[in-house]
Order: sequence, then C-alpha cells, then structure tokens
Amino acid sequence: MKTIKRVGILTSGGDCPGLNAVIRAVTRKAIHRYGYEVIGIEDGFDGLVHNRHRKLTDQNVSGILTLGGTILGTTNRANPYKYPVTRGTNTTYQDLSSTVIKNLSKLKIDCLVCIGGDGTLDTSYHLFQQGIRVIGIPKTIDNDVKGTDITFGFDTAVHIATEGIDRLHTTAESQHRIMILEVMGRSAGWIALYAGVAGGGDVILIPEIPYHLSEIAGHIKERKRGGKKSTIVVVAEGAKPIGGDVVIQRMVKDGSEPIRLGGVSFVIGQELEKLTGIETRNVVMGHLQRGGSPSPFDRILGTQLGSKAVDLMVEGRFGCMVGVKGKDFVEVPLSKVAQGSRLVPLNHLLIKDARDLGVCFGN
Ligand code: F6P
Repeated sequence: MKTIKRVGILTSGGDCPGLNAVIRAVTRKAIHRYGYEVIGIEDGFDGLVHNRHRKLTDQNVSGILTLGGTILGTTNRANPYKYPVTRGTNTTYQDLSSTVIKNLSKLKIDCLVCIGGDGTLDTSYHLFQQGIRVIGIPKTIDNDVKGTDITFGFDTAVHIATEGIDRLHTTAESQHRIMILEVMGRSAGWIALYAGVAGGGDVILIPEIPYHLSEIAGHIKERKRGGKKSTIVVVAEGAKPIGGDVVIQRMVKDGSEPIRLGGVSFVIGQELEKLTGIETRNVVMGHLQRGGSPSPFDRILGTQLGSKAVDLMVEGRFGCMVGVKGKDFVEVPLSKVAQGSRLVPLNHLLIKDARDLGVCFGN
C-alpha cells in the first residue's frame, strides 16, 4: 500500500461548534505522531474545485480549540458531482469530480479527511468509489447522522437552547403567557427533545411525532385549571401537524438540500392563542445554536474523533467514517452512512420519561 506523506482535511456543509477541535486534533496527531504533512482545503469541496488550500502547522492550529465555526471555511453549495456553474443569469450543474480528483493528485494528497453531515459523507463515499482514500468524520448540531450515537455540536446546541428555555420561563411566568421556542432539527427532533427535557418544557414537538393543535390546547387549558400560570412549548423547526406539512422559510439555490425550514412557532403560536385565549409569544433560536464556542464535551468529542480518524488512516481503513457506539469509537462504512437521517426512535426512553412527568408531545 502507498504510504501516507500528505493528508488533506476539509469541512463541508453547515458549520458546527467543535469543527476546529477536529482540525486541530487531526493536524497535531498527523504531524507529531506520524510526521505527515497536513493541507487544509478551504471552503469544503469548493476549495478542491478551485484549488484553494493552505498548509496546516502546529502553530496555525494553535488556539483554535475553543473557537466556534471552522478556520477552513465551509459551504453547502459545492457538491462536486452537481456543481453549480453560472454564466450570466444561467446556472447549469456539472459533474466536476474529475477536477477534484486531478487537484488532489496535483497536491499529492494521499488521504482526505472529510468532516461533514450526511451530504458531505455521501460525496466522500462517491470519491472513495472513484479511488480517493477518504476518512469521514460526522458533524451536525442536529445529531442525526446514521452510524453514530452522537455528533459533536449537538451538546453545545442543546446547552444554548436550554439556556433559551430557562430565560423564557421567568418572562412567561410573570406575564402568564405561552412562550414557544423554535429550535433547529429538520427531520430529527434531538435538540428539541433534549433541550425540552433539560429546560423543563411543558410541550415538546418533534418531527417524528406529528402533533394535533387541539391536543396541545387541551393540555395547556388543563395546566391553567391546575394553577399553572404559563406554558413553555419547545418545537423543532421540522415539526408538522398530523396530516399536514412543515413550514418552509425559503428555498436555497444550489444547495444539495434546497429547503430551509422556519416559522412553525409563528403558526403554532397564532393557533394556540386562538384556541386557549392565552397571550402567546414565540422565539426562533436559529443560528445562535450553531455559533460560538463549543462546550467542553464537544471539544473532547471532536478531539477524540480527529485522533481516531488518524488511526484509521494509518491502518489503511479508508472509505469509513469514525462513529461513536456506546463508549467506543467505531469505524462505519461510508456506504451505510449516506442513507438518510437518524431519527429519534418513538420508543426513546426520554420520550417515555418526559410523558410520565406530564410533558405533552402533541399527540
Ligand atoms: O443541518 C444543520 C442545520 O442547522 C439544520 O438544523 C437547519 O435546518 C439548517 O442547518 C440551516 O441551514 P442554513 O445555515 O443553510 O440556514
């Protein structure tokens, strides 16, 4: 097998707290332990299409552990297999994977570490099938990548959303209102579930459990009769009513996933106010959940995933993603990862525990 001298690393898709911890771990271990050279590719696969990269050294990954975002930049609009090329007002989509492969070869990159969500890992798998030696590392605040129990970024997002709920409690209580907090989670309700339970939410709505507004309104009225002055509703952006659909905020041109959700809290808020007669306000947490410094847990997880990725490359285990199973770090074939999202199972213990405590899931 060809020995490794030079490693490429890129971050692709949406950013996420903990990416820099991974970049730092891969770079430091590759340099110190194995004497490899590390090349940071800028802005995900875009940097491989347009040859934008820089050498990573011990010095330039110093001090980044605590930084949110990614020092390499990222984009979710540069799938090399469906790359948008705009001439004038006309955009066509071209397969530029051969350009990427040529540029990797010119750069003499022996192994490419791709840090991203399901879209990025899918692209990485295709590159692997075309002969590129790839190792994947899962990232997303949504915690919904298949093949791993947890992704870094999730813990930080849950902390931020929980703090939001904590703050809403006092204002809701003081003014006897329903307060609705909308959190991220397109198809998986992990953030809503965990932050909802951690923050003592009274109603938690997740995409996996379609809701019935009259059910929620009934629950809130019952709470009022029991002397509760306020209600906190935590809703994932991808939550939808039984038989209904998600609320779309905008369509993103050129993205591999064009739909951007948002606004379900406004819709629910208006309806609940009508149905209960209780004044209602809503807050959309949005990108606050993705920004800022990663939690200690995410720094550690990112560091360990980066370290394990280097182990896999040294052992020649290409075409795999590093995943977490229980307390272990495992290798997962990329072919198994790129198949949709990891949803909250309906029999998840936390749903049962929350229900037993009187939390309403809208059904
Ligand atoms: O996948 C992570 C995520 O944060 C989703 O929860 C959210 O719907 C989406 O990204 C937002 O993407 P953008 O940054 O393009 O608005």
